[in-house]
Amino acid sequence: MRAVPRHVACVMDGNGRWAQRRSLPRTAGHRAAETTVIDIIEAARAAGVEWLSLYAFSTENWNRPGAEVDYLMRLVRRVVRKHAPLLLARGIRCRFLGVADPRIPRELARDFDDLAALTADNRGMTLTVAFDHGGRRDIVEAARSLIRSRTPADEVTERLFADHLPFPDTPDVDLVIRTSGEQRISNFMLWQVAYAEWVFPEVLWPDFRAPEFLACLRTYRRRDRRFGGVPPLTDGDPS
Ligand code: IPE
Ligand code: IPE
Ligand code: MG
Repeated sequence: MRAVPRHVACVMDGNGRWAQRRSLPRTAGHRAAETTVIDIIEAARAAGVEWLSLYAFSTENWNRPGAEVDYLMRLVRRVVRKHAPLLLARGIRCRFLGVADPRIPRELARDFDDLAALTADNRGMTLTVAFDHGGRRDIVEAARSLIRSRTPADEVTERLFADHLPFPDTPDVDLVIRTSGEQRISNFMLWQVAYAEWVFPEVLWPDFRAPEFLACLRTYRRRDRRFGGVPPLTDGDPS
Protein backbone atom coordinates (compact mmCIF):
# COMPACT_ATOMS: atom_id res chain seq x y z
CA MET A 1 0.00 0.00 0.00
CA ARG A 2 1.18 3.52 -0.73
CA ALA A 3 2.14 5.60 2.30
CA VAL A 4 0.31 8.59 0.84
CA PRO A 5 -3.17 8.02 -0.58
CA ARG A 6 -3.17 8.61 -4.30
CA HIS A 7 -6.73 9.96 -4.35
CA VAL A 8 -8.20 11.90 -1.42
CA ALA A 9 -11.81 13.10 -1.54
CA CYS A 10 -13.23 15.61 0.94
CA VAL A 11 -16.84 16.19 1.91
CA MET A 12 -16.48 19.80 2.98
CA ASP A 13 -19.11 19.87 5.71
CA GLY A 14 -19.93 22.13 8.65
CA ASN A 15 -19.93 25.63 7.19
CA GLY A 16 -23.43 26.41 8.44
CA ARG A 17 -22.72 25.21 11.98
CA TRP A 18 -19.46 27.16 12.03
CA ALA A 19 -21.44 30.34 11.32
CA GLN A 20 -24.31 29.49 13.68
CA ARG A 21 -21.85 29.04 16.57
CA ARG A 22 -20.73 32.60 15.94
CA SER A 23 -24.31 33.92 15.56
CA LEU A 24 -23.54 34.69 11.95
CA PRO A 25 -25.63 33.88 8.87
CA ARG A 26 -24.87 30.51 7.28
CA THR A 27 -23.34 32.30 4.31
CA ALA A 28 -20.51 33.56 6.54
CA GLY A 29 -19.52 29.93 7.02
CA HIS A 30 -19.34 29.38 3.29
CA ARG A 31 -17.22 32.47 2.91
CA ALA A 32 -14.86 31.25 5.62
CA ALA A 33 -14.50 27.95 3.78
CA GLU A 34 -12.46 29.56 1.02
CA THR A 35 -9.29 29.74 3.14
CA THR A 36 -9.62 26.07 4.01
CA VAL A 37 -10.04 25.08 0.38
CA ILE A 38 -6.81 26.80 -0.65
CA ASP A 39 -4.95 25.49 2.41
CA ILE A 40 -6.00 21.90 1.72
CA ILE A 41 -5.16 22.09 -1.99
CA GLU A 42 -1.65 23.26 -1.05
CA ALA A 43 -1.28 20.69 1.72
CA ALA A 44 -2.42 17.82 -0.49
CA ARG A 45 -0.08 18.83 -3.29
CA ALA A 46 2.87 19.21 -0.93
CA ALA A 47 2.15 15.81 0.64
CA GLY A 48 2.26 14.09 -2.74
CA VAL A 49 -1.46 13.43 -3.21
CA GLU A 50 -2.00 13.00 -6.95
CA TRP A 51 -5.77 13.37 -7.05
CA LEU A 52 -7.83 15.61 -4.77
CA SER A 53 -11.61 15.76 -5.08
CA LEU A 54 -13.69 18.33 -3.21
CA TYR A 55 -17.46 18.05 -2.78
CA ALA A 56 -18.69 21.61 -3.15
CA PHE A 57 -22.37 21.30 -4.07
CA SER A 58 -24.56 18.22 -4.30
CA THR A 59 -27.59 17.58 -6.47
CA GLU A 60 -29.52 17.61 -3.17
CA ASN A 61 -28.17 21.04 -2.21
CA TRP A 62 -30.67 22.58 -4.64
CA ASN A 63 -33.18 21.97 -1.82
CA ARG A 64 -31.61 24.77 0.23
CA PRO A 65 -33.17 28.23 0.42
CA GLY A 66 -32.75 30.16 -2.82
CA ALA A 67 -30.72 32.92 -1.18
CA GLU A 68 -28.14 30.43 0.13
CA VAL A 69 -27.90 28.69 -3.25
CA ASP A 70 -27.44 32.06 -4.99
CA TYR A 71 -24.76 33.01 -2.50
CA LEU A 72 -22.89 29.76 -3.12
CA MET A 73 -23.03 30.26 -6.89
CA ARG A 74 -21.58 33.77 -6.57
CA LEU A 75 -18.97 32.69 -4.03
CA VAL A 76 -17.74 29.77 -6.11
CA ARG A 77 -17.46 32.01 -9.15
CA ARG A 78 -15.39 34.52 -7.19
CA VAL A 79 -13.13 31.82 -5.77
CA VAL A 80 -12.57 30.18 -9.16
CA ARG A 81 -11.64 33.47 -10.81
CA LYS A 82 -9.50 34.70 -7.94
CA HIS A 83 -7.39 31.58 -7.54
CA ALA A 84 -6.99 30.60 -11.19
CA PRO A 85 -3.45 32.07 -11.42
CA LEU A 86 -2.35 30.24 -8.26
CA LEU A 87 -3.75 26.92 -9.47
CA LEU A 88 -2.04 27.36 -12.82
CA ALA A 89 1.27 28.30 -11.18
CA ARG A 90 1.13 25.27 -8.88
CA GLY A 91 0.69 22.91 -11.83
CA ILE A 92 -2.78 21.81 -10.72
CA ARG A 93 -5.15 20.43 -13.33
CA CYS A 94 -8.72 21.47 -12.46
CA ARG A 95 -11.92 19.71 -13.43
CA PHE A 96 -15.55 20.15 -12.50
CA LEU A 97 -17.68 17.08 -11.95
CA GLY A 98 -21.45 17.43 -12.37
CA VAL A 99 -22.44 20.92 -13.55
CA ALA A 100 -25.48 19.65 -15.44
CA ASP A 101 -28.38 21.61 -13.97
CA PRO A 102 -29.78 24.50 -16.04
CA ARG A 103 -30.10 26.55 -12.83
CA ILE A 104 -26.31 26.97 -12.77
CA PRO A 105 -25.58 30.53 -13.94
CA ARG A 106 -24.11 30.49 -17.43
CA GLU A 107 -21.18 32.70 -16.41
CA LEU A 108 -20.23 30.25 -13.68
CA ALA A 109 -20.31 27.29 -16.06
CA ARG A 110 -18.15 29.31 -18.44
CA ASP A 111 -15.64 30.08 -15.69
CA PHE A 112 -15.46 26.36 -14.88
CA ASP A 113 -14.75 25.60 -18.54
CA ASP A 114 -12.14 28.35 -18.71
CA LEU A 115 -10.27 27.15 -15.63
CA ALA A 116 -10.37 23.54 -16.85
CA ALA A 117 -8.99 24.62 -20.25
CA LEU A 118 -6.36 26.89 -18.68
CA THR A 119 -4.98 24.11 -16.49
CA ALA A 120 -5.60 21.14 -18.80
CA ASP A 121 -1.91 20.54 -19.49
CA ASN A 122 -0.84 20.74 -15.85
CA ARG A 123 0.59 17.55 -14.41
CA GLY A 124 1.07 18.43 -10.73
CA MET A 125 -2.15 17.23 -9.10
CA THR A 126 -5.65 16.78 -10.46
CA LEU A 127 -8.24 18.76 -8.53
CA THR A 128 -11.81 17.62 -9.16
CA VAL A 129 -14.45 19.96 -7.81
CA ALA A 130 -17.76 18.14 -7.52
CA PHE A 131 -20.35 20.81 -8.15
CA ASP A 132 -23.99 19.94 -8.75
CA HIS A 133 -22.71 16.40 -8.36
CA GLY A 134 -24.66 13.27 -7.50
CA GLY A 135 -23.11 9.83 -7.47
CA ARG A 136 -26.36 8.16 -8.46
CA ARG A 137 -26.85 10.52 -11.36
CA ASP A 138 -23.38 9.64 -12.67
CA ILE A 139 -24.20 5.94 -12.50
CA VAL A 140 -27.51 6.42 -14.31
CA GLU A 141 -25.78 8.52 -16.98
CA ALA A 142 -23.16 5.79 -17.42
CA ALA A 143 -25.94 3.22 -17.88
CA ARG A 144 -27.61 5.43 -20.48
CA SER A 145 -24.32 5.89 -22.31
CA LEU A 146 -23.71 2.12 -22.32
CA ILE A 147 -27.18 1.42 -23.68
CA ARG A 148 -26.68 4.03 -26.39
CA SER A 149 -23.40 2.34 -27.35
CA ARG A 150 -25.38 -0.88 -27.96
CA THR A 151 -22.92 -2.92 -25.96
CA PRO A 152 -24.27 -6.49 -25.58
CA ALA A 153 -25.29 -7.10 -21.97
CA ASP A 154 -22.88 -10.01 -21.56
CA GLU A 155 -19.96 -7.78 -22.49
CA VAL A 156 -20.61 -5.23 -19.73
CA THR A 157 -17.85 -5.50 -17.13
CA GLU A 158 -17.06 -3.27 -14.18
CA ARG A 159 -14.15 -1.76 -16.14
CA LEU A 160 -16.29 -1.07 -19.18
CA PHE A 161 -19.06 0.40 -17.05
CA ALA A 162 -16.56 2.70 -15.34
CA ASP A 163 -15.37 3.87 -18.75
CA HIS A 164 -18.80 5.43 -19.24
CA LEU A 165 -18.64 7.48 -16.03
CA PRO A 166 -17.60 11.13 -16.28
CA PHE A 167 -13.79 11.48 -16.16
CA PRO A 168 -13.18 7.74 -16.49
CA ASP A 169 -9.43 8.20 -15.89
CA THR A 170 -10.18 9.08 -12.24
CA PRO A 171 -8.65 6.41 -9.98
CA ASP A 172 -10.63 4.88 -7.13
CA VAL A 173 -10.75 7.07 -4.04
CA ASP A 174 -8.31 5.86 -1.35
CA LEU A 175 -9.34 8.16 1.47
CA VAL A 176 -12.52 10.13 2.13
CA ILE A 177 -12.40 12.88 4.73
CA ARG A 178 -15.74 14.23 5.95
CA THR A 179 -15.44 17.08 8.40
CA SER A 180 -17.96 18.16 11.05
CA GLY A 181 -18.46 14.72 12.56
CA GLU A 182 -21.23 13.65 10.18
CA GLN A 183 -20.76 10.07 9.08
CA ARG A 184 -22.52 9.59 5.78
CA ILE A 185 -21.78 9.50 2.10
CA SER A 186 -24.43 11.99 0.89
CA ASN A 187 -24.35 10.70 -2.70
CA PHE A 188 -20.65 11.46 -3.22
CA MET A 189 -18.70 9.65 -5.99
CA LEU A 190 -20.54 6.45 -5.15
CA TRP A 191 -18.77 4.30 -7.71
CA GLN A 192 -15.28 5.58 -6.92
CA VAL A 193 -15.48 5.27 -3.11
CA ALA A 194 -16.34 1.54 -3.19
CA TYR A 195 -13.17 0.58 -1.26
CA ALA A 196 -12.11 3.90 0.23
CA GLU A 197 -10.96 4.36 3.81
CA TRP A 198 -13.05 6.92 5.72
CA VAL A 199 -12.13 9.41 8.41
CA PHE A 200 -14.56 11.73 10.16
CA PRO A 201 -12.76 14.57 11.94
CA GLU A 202 -15.04 16.50 14.30
CA VAL A 203 -13.64 19.86 13.20
CA LEU A 204 -15.90 21.99 11.02
CA TRP A 205 -14.68 22.63 7.49
CA PRO A 206 -13.84 26.36 7.98
CA ASP A 207 -11.52 25.36 10.87
CA PHE A 208 -9.91 22.45 8.99
CA ARG A 209 -6.28 23.24 8.11
CA ALA A 210 -3.11 21.56 6.85
CA PRO A 211 -2.20 20.01 10.25
CA GLU A 212 -5.64 18.37 10.54
CA PHE A 213 -5.36 17.19 6.93
CA LEU A 214 -1.94 15.67 7.59
CA ALA A 215 -3.36 13.95 10.68
CA CYS A 216 -5.95 12.31 8.39
CA LEU A 217 -3.14 11.10 6.12
CA ARG A 218 -1.40 9.58 9.17
CA THR A 219 -4.60 7.83 10.19
CA TYR A 220 -4.83 6.43 6.67
CA ARG A 221 -1.27 5.11 6.87
CA ARG A 222 -2.20 3.08 9.96
CA ARG A 223 -5.14 1.44 8.23
CA ASP A 224 -4.89 -2.11 7.01
CA ARG A 225 -6.41 -2.23 3.55
CA ARG A 226 -7.32 -5.79 2.75
CA PHE A 227 -9.63 -5.54 -0.25
CA GLY A 228 -11.38 -8.68 0.90
CA GLY A 229 -8.14 -10.57 1.45
CA VAL A 230 -6.34 -11.47 4.65
CA PRO A 231 -3.79 -9.39 6.58
CA PRO A 232 -0.35 -9.39 4.94
CA LEU A 233 2.45 -11.63 6.32
CA THR A 234 0.16 -13.87 8.36
CA ASP A 235 -1.70 -15.57 5.51
CA GLY A 236 -4.67 -15.20 7.80
CA ASP A 237 -3.32 -17.43 10.57
CA PRO A 238 -2.76 -15.99 14.04
CA SER A 239 0.91 -15.08 14.33
C1 IPE B 1 -21.09 22.30 3.63
O1 IPE B 1 -21.49 22.95 4.80
C2 IPE B 1 -21.18 23.19 2.43
C3 IPE B 1 -22.17 22.79 1.43
C4 IPE B 1 -22.94 21.75 1.49
C5 IPE B 1 -22.29 23.66 0.28
P1 IPE B 1 -23.02 22.96 5.24
O2 IPE B 1 -23.65 24.19 4.67
O3 IPE B 1 -23.66 21.69 4.90
O4 IPE B 1 -22.85 23.14 6.79
P2 IPE B 1 -23.77 22.46 7.93
O5 IPE B 1 -23.76 20.99 7.69
O6 IPE B 1 -25.13 23.05 7.78
O7 IPE B 1 -23.10 22.85 9.19
C1 IPE C 1 -22.84 17.17 1.48
O1 IPE C 1 -23.10 17.98 2.58
C2 IPE C 1 -22.63 17.99 0.27
C3 IPE C 1 -21.45 18.86 0.28
C4 IPE C 1 -20.54 18.94 1.20
C5 IPE C 1 -21.29 19.67 -0.87
P1 IPE C 1 -24.58 18.26 3.09
O2 IPE C 1 -24.43 19.01 4.36
O3 IPE C 1 -25.37 18.88 2.01
O4 IPE C 1 -25.11 16.79 3.34
P2 IPE C 1 -26.28 16.26 4.28
O5 IPE C 1 -27.51 16.99 3.86
O6 IPE C 1 -25.90 16.58 5.68
O7 IPE C 1 -26.31 14.80 4.01
MG1 MG D 1 -23.85 19.95 5.95
